[in-house]
Amino acid sequence: MPGWDEELAPFEQFVKWVFEAPHYRADGQIIAANGENWVGLAAVGYFKEGNLAVNMITGVDRAYRGRKIALALKLLANRVARCWGVSSIRTNNDSQNAPMLKINRKLGYQPEPGRYILEHKPSSNGEPVTS
Ligand SMILES: CC(C)(COP(=O)(O)OP(=O)(O)OC[C@H]1O[C@@H](n2cnc3c(N)ncnc32)[C@H](O)[C@@H]1OP(=O)(O)O)[C@@H](O)C(=O)NCCC(=O)NCCS
Repeated sequence: MPGWDEELAPFEQFVKWVFEAPHYRADGQIIAANGENWVGLAAVGYFKEGNLAVNMITGVDRAYRGRKIALALKLLANRVARCWGVSSIRTNNDSQNAPMLKINRKLGYQPEPGRYILEHKPSSNGEPVTS
């Protein structure tokens, strides 16, 4: 996922972050499957403060990308959020994640000012990079 270069958390940590989070909703986990194989997921959470739904993550197995599976998953996620009666639905994306941004524009998400990260990476010899 563009913008994500951290190590994956151990499963126990993942369980705490996801299944035990106050915004977690089982009906907000939308799975795309090819027979027994899970090939995609869209997860939408509910935030009581603001009566808000948030697309937490959308992902499609590389071998299945480009078939509008993510678009279908996000449409279903939005339908679930509508059933909850939320006032709006929100998502966060890396500015270089072209496929996801394309889907979100298609669905009518409106861009808002985001968070900008400036990163200083020292060169391999430890000296600051000058160019
Ligand atoms: C983002 C992601 C979920 C898209 O899944 P997908 O099933 O391939 O998406 P879709 O087929 O529904 O739509 C992708 C769209 O992006 C377009 N696209 C793909 N690569 C692109 C690129 N490099 N530049 C511009 N558009 C691109 C496709 O043409 C398609 O648009 P179209 O239907 O109008 O032709 C998938 O790439 C993924 O799992 N990425 C890693 C996880 C991630 O980044 N998730 C998002 C942040 S939570």
